[in-house]
Amino acid sequence: MYKLIRSILFLWQPEKIHDFVSAVLKLLDKIPLMPVLIRLIYSYRKPCLEKEVFGVKFKNPVGLAAGFDKDGDAYNALANFGFGFVEIGSLTPKPQDGNPKPRCFRLTKDKAIVNRMGINNKGIRHAVSHLQKDKSRCPIGCSITKGRDTSMADAYKDYEFSFEYLYDFVDYFVLNVSCPNVKDATKNQSLENITPIIDKLLELRIMYDDYRPILLKISPDVTKDYLDDIINLVLISGLDGIIAANTTSKREALKSNKKLISKAGQGGLSGQPLYDRSLELVKYIYAKTNGHLPIIASGGIMTPQQAMEMLDSGASLIQVYTGFIYNGPKFVKKINKFIVRTLMERQK
Ligand SMILES: Cc1cc2nc3c(=O)[nH]c(=O)nc-3n(C[C@H](O)[C@H](O)[C@H](O)COP(=O)(O)O)c2cc1C
Repeated sequence: MYKLIRSILFLWQPEKIHDFVSAVLKLLDKIPLMPVLIRLIYSYRKPCLEKEVFGVKFKNPVGLAAGFDKDGDAYNALANFGFGFVEIGSLTPKPQDGNPKPRCFRLTKDKAIVNRMGINNKGIRHAVSHLQKDKSRCPIGCSITKGRDTSMADAYKDYEFSFEYLYDFVDYFVLNVSCPNVKDATKNQSLENITPIIDKLLELRIMYDDYRPILLKISPDVTKDYLDDIINLVLISGLDGIIAANTTSKREALKSNKKLISKAGQGGLSGQPLYDRSLELVKYIYAKTNGHLPIIASGGIMTPQQAMEMLDSGASLIQVYTGFIYNGPKFVKKINKFIVRTLMERQK
């Protein structure tokens, strides 16, 4: 059934469909009893899915990755589809338009998306006003990043502003230093530039009574040396975990027509082609940290089996974005059911 709906939806530009679907979901969430009905159909709860990671309690380990609910105004409508958590953002202190449209493309043969959105968002204040009004039904993470016009030297000020503004309204933070679609993408993730941001936020966090975990989201395109340095930095600084990983700038072994790939142009590739690399990163980080550091696996999880493989390989939680688009609203339930079935079979 979803395949048919998808073939119709895929006739339109991805960003248009995204905005249309988000608007419909928000509308449905406002109709009395509709959220309950959607949850009845799509969510799946079992005690064995519940877990506590970095001090936050999750009803299940499947989250919605950053970028879908950039502005933080559809998280409850999305949570109805069974997500254990939703990550909003990436947000910047001030609203910004992002890159010129069109900036999002499907590579259907590869079950992939190429995007160069450029962190379009309505800014921190918009998200907070919504978070204040609409109490979240599941843990909410927030991905924060620096504004387009903020210099690298001042980047920590943007992170500081967003961190303080959001602190009482979200359950964990993610520092998005790995977006490939912004100016100075490579510089953004240099250790030299990340360290003062991390130091500042950790210093600030001490002042709060409640603890908010802070994670770092890395690029799948990192070199082994850089990855080792990042892992050391995370461990030494006392950050709470790593999200592996963001979209890739690489275009390896794609099945899509070359013309289509070149029409999509530059940007971050997500979806199926990313899976092997993100799995490799999860395994590496898990081994290197002796399983002591929480890892959220993100990147190319397109089947329940892959979700399970990520958890088996050391991920504490997983996130999906492109898989949700290609598999439809039942995807989260399918993953959770598969996890439960697998765990039960293993107990036999
Ligand atoms: C259209 C689009 C926009 C995205 N925007 C963000 C973003 O603002 N911040 C971020 O950290 N990741 C963003 N991502 C990356 C996703 O959060 C995720 O890490 C990536 O897509 C890999 O997962 P997937 O293969 O399941 O999609 C975006 C991805 C897509 C497809």
